[in-house]
Amino acid sequence: VDNRPIGIFDSGIGGLTVVARVTAMLPNEEIIYFGDTARLPYGSKTGETVTRFSREIARFLLRRNVKAVVVACNTASALALETLQRELPVDVLGVISPGADAACARTRSGRIGVIGTRATIRSGAYRRALLERRQDLVICEVATPLFVHLVEEGWTSGEIPGRIARHYLGELVDAGVDTVILGCTHYPLLAGMLADALGAEAALIDSAEETARALARVLERRRLAADRSGGGGLTCYASDVAEGFATLGARFLGRPLDRVEHVEQSDLPWFER
Ligand code: DGL
Repeated sequence: VDNRPIGIFDSGIGGLTVVARVTAMLPNEEIIYFGDTARLPYGSKTGETVTRFSREIARFLLRRNVKAVVVACNTASALALETLQRELPVDVLGVISPGADAACARTRSGRIGVIGTRATIRSGAYRRALLERRQDLVICEVATPLFVHLVEEGWTSGEIPGRIARHYLGELVDAGVDTVILGCTHYPLLAGMLADALGAEAALIDSAEETARALARVLERRRLAADRSGGGGLTCYASDVAEGFATLGARFLGRPLDRVEHVEQSDLPWFER
């Protein structure tokens, strides 16, 4: 039993989709969330920059005595996970391996689609993770950067978003994929529209859900699960708290955010190098 909190971070508030799944699956866990809203998006940045930001945030979380770190951001998982796993004294989980496991378990045809930010797709992290599990897979990856903006604008259905989805996903339809990994924090909120564009046969893999399951397994195996009668809580920190943060956050989380603490960027400690 370990009642220390779990640290979860993302480039912004999209990672609250992971928090929502974790709290549903592990209601006794206390969660500290950090959204790097001042410096997002990560999806258009280089590996070097995203790794530097991720180390700073991990350090911030460690100072709050977390027992494990979940990298909820697909881009940071793709670019910085291995560095964090090497450097941090606690378990560090990303969203890519759980998503790849679920996709491999789900596919019948062995044809898998992956959508994500430019940086995630460029990194090839999902492709590598999938091929490590099964070499015979046919993988079709498409960067779909506008989807983040559609979700943030609340534009998750209707004619124009539908056309954008069909435009982006045409390649996946042509490739005949039967399983598509939603490789970005924001995409679970587009599930309905994506299913329409892909056709009913394609299974959508929600990395957030799979990551919560993977976290539950790690806590169980390492005997780190919390034991609290009243249930855990959620404290959110953000490097910028702009207008609309609470409304958007509630949409990702599926319930209102209690409170968001603002963290100055100058308070983000440099990782000791
Ligand atoms: N959180 C990012 C991801 O999952 C999307 C937003 C961004 O580009 O920062 O890849």
